[in-house]
Amino acid sequence: MDSGLDHHTARALLEWQIELGATEAILDAPVDRYALQPAAPKAAPAPAAPAVAPSAPAFDIDPVEEARRLADAAPDLEALRAALSGFMHCDLRRGARNLVFSDGKPGARVMIVGEAPGRDEDREGRPFVGRAGQLLDRMLAAIGMSRTPEQPGDGVYISNVLPWRPPQNRDPTPQEIAMLTPFMRRHVALAAPEIVVLMGNISCQAGLGQRGITRLRGQWAQAYGLPALPMFHPAYLLRKPHAKREAWADLLDLQARLRAGGGGA
Ligand code: URA
Repeated sequence: MDSGLDHHTARALLEWQIELGATEAILDAPVDRYALQPAAPKAAPAPAAPAVAPSAPAFDIDPVEEARRLADAAPDLEALRAALSGFMHCDLRRGARNLVFSDGKPGARVMIVGEAPGRDEDREGRPFVGRAGQLLDRMLAAIGMSRTPEQPGDGVYISNVLPWRPPQNRDPTPQEIAMLTPFMRRHVALAAPEIVVLMGNISCQAGLGQRGITRLRGQWAQAYGLPALPMFHPAYLLRKPHAKREAWADLLDLQARLRAGGGGA
């Protein structure tokens, strides 16, 4: 067959195909499709399915109920991580590089519940590793606490309401918070801290059903069945350094409560 291409053009086209990722020719010999018999007429299309199938279980699933079922069935933290990782109802997962589950020591007296991974956390798969996380580490160190403690009693365990980074760090929707909260409730139960610290508005929304961190901060409340202290988020403190004074007061209050016996105080 005469393609009408000279050697150089044919070679350039072939190289271009390779550049595009082609790794093999489909057939050994060229096919003259004009010489082929006309194709048999296509079979009539099957009648259209009804717009709503009478039993379409996929559409019946309530993501919040499903989250509750999966989370409650997790016997330990590894199983909970796996359950989150297999939870397909939250679109946030699509844009995220990593599931950000937790850091620090499960079983620590204090569990910090943050909001959502940012760019650095998404990249590393660990919560609070960016600038806000470094400030959080300094805040904790100021009251002798750490995610890598020398003494087990000084440890903290850290997680976020959202395990996936929202696109452009946008706020989560109420529906996203609602479907991820059962996982956090189970997470707290399995990590078994004495006290929960709710960092920022999203964390208060998930744990207390309320926003308004300026009003809530420093006021002990109950979240996930435990004493909970709402605090300013370290990212907020980076933007508004004057609020560090209140954050310091809250840290001292946390330390005092731990010294007095923690959750049982
Ligand atoms: N802010 C959060 O709330 N969590 C992180 O992990 C990082 C920043």
